[in-house]
Amino acid sequence: MTAAGTAGYGAEFHPYVDLSTIGAVVTKSLAPYEWPGNPAPRLHPVRAGMMNSVGLQGPGIGEWLERTLPEIIATGADVVCSIWGRSIEDYRAAAEMLADAPDSVVAVEVNLSCPNLEGRGGIFAHDPALSAEVVAATAACARPRWAKLSPNTDRIVEVARAVTEAGAEALTLVNTLLGLTLDPSTLRPTLGNGGGGLSGPAIHPIAVRAVADVRAALPDVPIVGVGGIADTFDAVELMAVGASAVQIGTALFAEPTALARVRDGLVVEARRRGLSSVSGLTGLAVL
Ligand code: SIN
Repeated sequence: MTAAGTAGYGAEFHPYVDLSTIGAVVTKSLAPYEWPGNPAPRLHPVRAGMMNSVGLQGPGIGEWLERTLPEIIATGADVVCSIWGRSIEDYRAAAEMLADAPDSVVAVEVNLSCPNLEGRGGIFAHDPALSAEVVAATAACARPRWAKLSPNTDRIVEVARAVTEAGAEALTLVNTLLGLTLDPSTLRPTLGNGGGGLSGPAIHPIAVRAVADVRAALPDVPIVGVGGIADTFDAVELMAVGASAVQIGTALFAEPTALARVRDGLVVEARRRGLSSVSGLTGLAVL
């Protein structure tokens, strides 16, 4: 799958990869209303990845359902709609707006972990009870809900347990890590909002650890692994420690076709190991 926020809201990647041949297109997170996001610059490359502080800019779910979703459906892709809000009521409203979405919207990813809103106090996924409340409020979307969690906490297992008990059918692990970069001449932050979220190869081992820890604690909960996948083995690693599926994000900025390369690489890797399907890679790690 594409990772939320790295492949737009719609069919932008279809010219590069036939979107009907990947697991799903995961949209950039959408709120129940239009949202302007953070001041530019919003992206900044770093040695082992990328910093972002987009601030969840978006057209709102209503506009997306009407204007953008039909374009993705026309590609034959399955769609996972990522949602966000500033309050529990926002998440509830977002879920209600998706209740009658077409069947191509196969799941809703509940983004509890954006690091770029109203300072660091705003990450729902650092608080198990609050995260559970948000997930419980999104039942009206009437499709499987995946809770996207934050690596910026030592409570990820606790949060994972709380959100699954509240109704999340799967967990997406992980979002970006809090970071800060400075411009060499001005010594001011490179991003318009100050700090941001670090993604890309630098965070891959952190994602692998998070998936392994959550899988050990909650072996029956499906996990979608995300964090710094650039090559097939990165995806194999996340699956081996317990992910049932993976998302690719930062790598797509430099190489949009990485989606197809890694997808095909997984098939080859499964065959090489004598497995009848890619899903056989899940849980193979010897820990
Ligand atoms: C952003 O739009 O600022 C990033 C979203 C996220 O990390 O969840």
